[in-house]
Parts: sequence; structure tokens; C-alpha cells
Amino acid sequence: MPQKRNVLKEVNKTLNKMELASGQKSLIAKIKKLKKEKNAICLVHNYQRPEIYEVADFIGDSFALSQQAGKTNADIIVFCGVKFMAESAKILNPSRKVLLPVLTAGCPLAEMISIEELRELKKKYPAAAVVSYVNTTAEIKAESDVCCTSANAVKVVDSLPNKKVIFVPDYNLAKWVELQSSKKIIAWGGYCYIHSKVQYENIIKAKKAQPEAKILAHPECDLKILEIADAVLGTEGMLNYARNSEAKKFVIVTEEGMTTRLQKELPDKKFYSAAGVCINQKKTHLEDVYNSLKEEKYEINPEKGIIKKAAIALGKMIEAGRD
Ligand code: 13P
Repeated sequence: MPQKRNVLKEVNKTLNKMELASGQKSLIAKIKKLKKEKNAICLVHNYQRPEIYEVADFIGDSFALSQQAGKTNADIIVFCGVKFMAESAKILNPSRKVLLPVLTAGCPLAEMISIEELRELKKKYPAAAVVSYVNTTAEIKAESDVCCTSANAVKVVDSLPNKKVIFVPDYNLAKWVELQSSKKIIAWGGYCYIHSKVQYENIIKAKKAQPEAKILAHPECDLKILEIADAVLGTEGMLNYARNSEAKKFVIVTEEGMTTRLQKELPDKKFYSAAGVCINQKKTHLEDVYNSLKEEKYEINPEKGIIKKAAIALGKMIEAGRD
């Protein structure tokens, strides 16, 4: 008989006292040495592998990482995340060399709208402003009025003078924003293959299995899930919520790696993951970071004209701050 699959996965508690293999320890030491020699920094997204946290100068969500990228004086930024994040770093600080250790670490959501499709939408709704989620290509950002992350989507949309807003590419986030805002949102139909897969029924089961736990859901999840969550937050918002909450248990409805970050930061609380693993965010290993720094590959450098235009939309996103 097939085994019944558990809805919730517990974080491996040993991760916060992670036993690194000797090969990993030596790679970490070599990466740190190279970073010093080359005046480089490693920016690491929350969803990355826990051993990658060990070489981070900064770990955070896409908003905080963009802020860090924009203000660093380092000559080289090694971006441990996915391609659109490295592109944003280059756009925000074009005189730095930005490296992505694994070139195939992409975000399928970011590829879900083409430039032709966005131009069509703009033609159809000429009075609407274009807000692009940061999970987009540099080209899409360059065609947008302003960008946002899950940390400030409502604030960005509300700050616009237009009554109508074209919101690309994530449909669930667009619908969530529409609920909080007075604007009419024209939502594109993109989705994150991890968040959109989470089943409402499983979150109901999770609530029953852990009745004292707070449910924290990422706004890329289905609206039905967002409506029953205790809080709807981006990844950094989840960390702040869990840190300031009196609750001891949390069901985390975002990419599984986030529970590792939470468990590392808040070892006395308990975190359960109710979502899957993003294979793209897990493509980067210590060896890739080492090779990336040593050989200064793979450089992310969108066309100059695109950088210039996209910098306006991304700059406004940073200026807006968090919700
Ligand atoms: P954050 O904005 O919380 O970093 O989330 C990034 C992301 O890509 C979610 O799928």
C-alpha cells in the first residue's frame, strides 16, 4: 500500500548546527579568501542551500538584496539566487561586475510574459500604469513604470496616480494586491510553479494537524489560501513576523528553504514547511560559487539601453520602501 504523504515537513533541526563536510569547510575558506582578494561580496537569497548561507555577506529577500546590491562598494557581486535577481543587482549598480554562479538558475515565472505581450497590453490599456513584479526579465522592467516585490506591492500600486494598473506577471499576487487596493488591476496569468501548486485542502489539513501554529503564506499562493492564512508576507516579512510573534509554531507556505532560514535565526521556535522545493534556487553549490569567483563567471550584463530604462522602474521600487 502506498505510504500516506505528510502534508507538513518538519525542518531538520540539526541544520542550524549544520555539520559541514571537510570538503565544504575547505571550499568555504577558499571562497572567503577569494572574496577578500577580489573585493567581492556574496548576496544570498533566503531560498538558497544552507551551506551557501556560510559564505554570505548578506542573506535576505529580493527587496533587501536589491537594496544591498545598489549600495555596495564591492568590485564584484556574486549573486546566489536566480537570474532576475542578478540582473536587478547589475541594473541598480552597473559599475560593479555581477556574477551568477550557475547560468541556468532561472525563474520560470520571470519568463512568463514576453516583451511583445506586454506591449500589446499597453496598447490595449493606454491609460494604465505598468507595475512589474521584480520576478521579470530586465527587458520587461525597462518597459514598466515601476517594479515591486512581495514586500511592497500594495504600497507601490497605491502610490500611482492611474486608476488602472497592468500588473505582471504573477496572477495570484495581482489578485491579492487588488483586494487591498482601490485600483483596477489588469492581471497577467503567470504563476510560480512552487506556490501555485500548494493545495488549499492541504493547508486546511495543516491547520488541523497544528492548531496552535500560525499560517504564514507568500502572496504567490492561491487566493483561497491567502484568505485563511494568519499573515500574507514575503520571505523577510515571515522572518520578522515569527521573530515578533508570541506563537511558537509556524506553518510556512513558501519555498521549503525558507524554513531552514527561519529555524537558523529562531532556533527556539518550530517551523513546518507546506510547500515544495524550487530546483532553480537549489542549483548553486559551494563549488559553483568558488568557480564563479575564481574565473569571474557568469557575468550578468544586460544591454546598456535596457539597464538605463530598467533602473528607473527599479529605483522607484527601492524608493517606495517596504509595505
Ligand atoms: P521574496 O520577495 O520574499 O524574496 O520572494 C521571492 C520569490 O521569488 C518568491 O517566489
